[in-house]
Amino acid sequence: MTEPRRDPWLLTPGPLTTSRAVKEVMLHDWGSRDAEFIKLNARVRERLVELAGGQGTHVCVPLQGSGTFIVEAMIGTLVPRSGKLAVLINGSYGTRMVRMCEYLGRDRVVLETPEDTPVDPAALDAALAADAAITHVVVVHCETTSGVLNPVEEIAAVTGRRGRRLLVDAMSAFGALPLDAAATSYDALVASSNKCLEGVPGIGFAIIRRSALEGARGNASSLSLDLYDQWVAMEKTRQWRFTPPTHVLAALDQALAEHAAEGGVAGRGARYANNCRILVEGLRALGFETLLPDALQAPIIVTVRMPADPKFNFESFYDRLSRRGFVIYPGKLTVADSFRIGCIGRLGENEMRGVLRAIGEILAETGVGSCASARR
Ligand SMILES: Cc1ncc(COP(=O)(O)O)c(C=O)c1O
Repeated sequence: MTEPRRDPWLLTPGPLTTSRAVKEVMLHDWGSRDAEFIKLNARVRERLVELAGGQGTHVCVPLQGSGTFIVEAMIGTLVPRSGKLAVLINGSYGTRMVRMCEYLGRDRVVLETPEDTPVDPAALDAALAADAAITHVVVVHCETTSGVLNPVEEIAAVTGRRGRRLLVDAMSAFGALPLDAAATSYDALVASSNKCLEGVPGIGFAIIRRSALEGARGNASSLSLDLYDQWVAMEKTRQWRFTPPTHVLAALDQALAEHAAEGGVAGRGARYANNCRILVEGLRALGFETLLPDALQAPIIVTVRMPADPKFNFESFYDRLSRRGFVIYPGKLTVADSFRIGCIGRLGENEMRGVLRAIGEILAETGVGSCASARR
């Protein structure tokens, strides 16, 4: 992975480290009506549908903005104003969707498990059996708050059996963890340009079942977040409704070519799994405790319990790591004091071993004797 660089390695949930080639394709300007740009837009949309396994059933609707924008657009466009959404929560991205429902005026019911526990298909089954008003279910594939992998296939099976519609936030999983639209039935899945696809931030996209989108006219209460309107306009004119993020799209096109060259979802997923294994083994060898057991750990981001040793000061640890060229992330958990280290982005074995070496040096430098957490 290692390329000559001056920027720090971003071991975070995003923005992430990108390749030099992804950055270089942005050294151009495109008019939104350029034939080249229109071709590029069509190619990216088509490629994203293929990656989702949705050819013939699903369409791709891209949207300006960060991941949150496309999640909100998905809920606002696909859940009718008279609908009701079951929100499966085990972290802050699930919780954020409840806030969206409040803003959007969508009725909802919350099914919550702790942050270190996958969402529960049996509890969903019971809720759907008990409440005929629920029209849609939404689940986060990898809850980036902790890094826990949710059983999306089982959730899809329950939702389908009960005759309801599934929406998936696959923001931090799409492109690295398999989820085939032909095998796992969903009405919509959203992700963004800058997570496992390794583009730059600025575009979210939804892979939507064509028949569901065709029936979504008039649902949205926001013009800029109306995916139906965005789709109809893009189909008609081949252009974006409003100023397109041209450079971000060009970078995503290059990132998708690199994704294919790496072996697609299987190749990318294998590199991240290797990154995650090296990281988890190395952290445990240094005495740290990771939050999740291996079976629940998605190869996306690792949550580490904060050491109890008073000599371990997170701010100073963060700064020292950053000075050595590695940026990590604070924790976001309510169940435990923690920090996080990501395994995604243009990073490989060298960077994983590099951050572990740097952590070892910092522990020695600061005299931290034990990395055991306070729960022991
Ligand atoms: C699962 C998930 N959903 C939604 C988001 C929100 O994306 P953004 O921070 O780009 O708005 C993130 C961001 O990390 C995420 O991991």
